[in-house]
Amino acid sequence: MTPRVLVLSGPNLQLLGAREPALYGSTTLAEIHGRLLEVGGAEGAEIEARQSNHEGDLVTWLGEAARDGFHGVVINPGAYTHTSVALLDAARASGLPVIEVHLSNPDAREPFRRRTLVGRACLGRVAGFGPLSYELGLLGLLRHLRREMPPEIAARVEQPARGA
Ligand code: DQA
Repeated sequence: MTPRVLVLSGPNLQLLGAREPALYGSTTLAEIHGRLLEVGGAEGAEIEARQSNHEGDLVTWLGEAARDGFHGVVINPGAYTHTSVALLDAARASGLPVIEVHLSNPDAREPFRRRTLVGRACLGRVAGFGPLSYELGLLGLLRHLRREMPPEIAARVEQPARGA
């Protein structure tokens, strides 16, 4: 099976490269997408990358991902990370393994960024490594899809916590 991964980026991430470079760096989203295609290709995976500023687009794409033949999702939900019950529900409803990624480390920033709603539906999270967070998230997802995780971790991620 060729793993097919959908990479989603949320609001304001189309501005990467120009947006607060001290925080987010100088790499553009197009460059990040190009790198993910390379890394994914080298791993024998197919990658499709999309960005939207609209919560509804991200919800729709998550909802259609399984039907469209994707096996997993890497998502940087941007500010919707911290606010969107709709994205949390969509990630859960997708039935797919979802990895949350961030360029910055939200836990080391303002208190309102420490809460992730989307993360409750995610297999894992990579944050704080700039553009590399996307690559690391993709590589972790591919290991999971190939059942290459250590068994004790695989068993845990089969049943992600649903707690309050
Ligand atoms: C971000 C972190 C979010 O808190 C913020 O709203 C963003 C970018 C990141 O990649 O570091 O838009 O998701």
